[in-house]
Amino acid sequence: MDASSSRLLAVDIRARKGTVPLVCLTAYDTPMARRIDPHCDVLLVGDSLAMVVYGLETTRGVSVDTMIAHGQAVMRGSQQACVIVDLPYGSYESAPAQAVATAKRVVAETGCQGIKLEGGAEMAETITAIVAAGVPVLGHVGLLPQKAERRGGFKIQGKGDGGEKVRRDAEAAAAPGAFAIVIEGTVEAVARQITEHVAVPTIGIGASPACDGQILVTHDMVGLFADFTPKFVKRYGDAGALIEQAVRDYAGDVRAGRFPELSHCFGVAAVGV
Ligand code: KIV
Repeated sequence: MDASSSRLLAVDIRARKGTVPLVCLTAYDTPMARRIDPHCDVLLVGDSLAMVVYGLETTRGVSVDTMIAHGQAVMRGSQQACVIVDLPYGSYESAPAQAVATAKRVVAETGCQGIKLEGGAEMAETITAIVAAGVPVLGHVGLLPQKAERRGGFKIQGKGDGGEKVRRDAEAAAAPGAFAIVIEGTVEAVARQITEHVAVPTIGIGASPACDGQILVTHDMVGLFADFTPKFVKRYGDAGALIEQAVRDYAGDVRAGRFPELSHCFGVAAVGV
């Protein structure tokens, strides 16, 4: 933990390997961050916001500026979770120097505790450079949404010979100093083996209960994004239905003249007195 605040840092998340499972969720705005921060170890400002907030078909359509604006909002709404911001597609892949510049800008402008980027072996040099620049990195291997065409077409990784590639990618992300690794959409046995072998915590999404932590897209698990629900999502609530019901009631009240009541108005003598 940061001595000057009670916020968890990347080093605290790293130290949780093999201990109490890490609770991680995505967050994109201040009100949601306020609600979920007390219950989470990590809040990820994921580029999944391209799809679940902005209605895009893939995660590719968000800029660094957009990620920074949402990162700032989540930092304003949280006090104790370790906040990690995704580097968006196109902002880090061309060269380690590009990745370092983007990572440093994201941390400087949001105050977040680290960044996440997608990729294993091909990103090892980049992870080394970002960590050397003093920015904690969360790795991401297995299914890589920035490389997939559409979320509905995402393919499970690690089947047959593919298991070796995901294992190598996880090792390659851990070796240069990633403080933890997200394993997404990967065959259970492969995610379990990676968790047993890498020195840093694994955070699963569609991976294995053996992972050192779990993450879900909050909009999926609370029922705010219902276009489709991946197999690995467990729905813990139906916020979408609650919102719809509230709006239906509001519309009925306005149309029937039941809202606003005098108690909602200014310059009116106290109701009931
Ligand atoms: O962007 C995101 O929300 C993610 C999680 C699914 C891990 O990368």
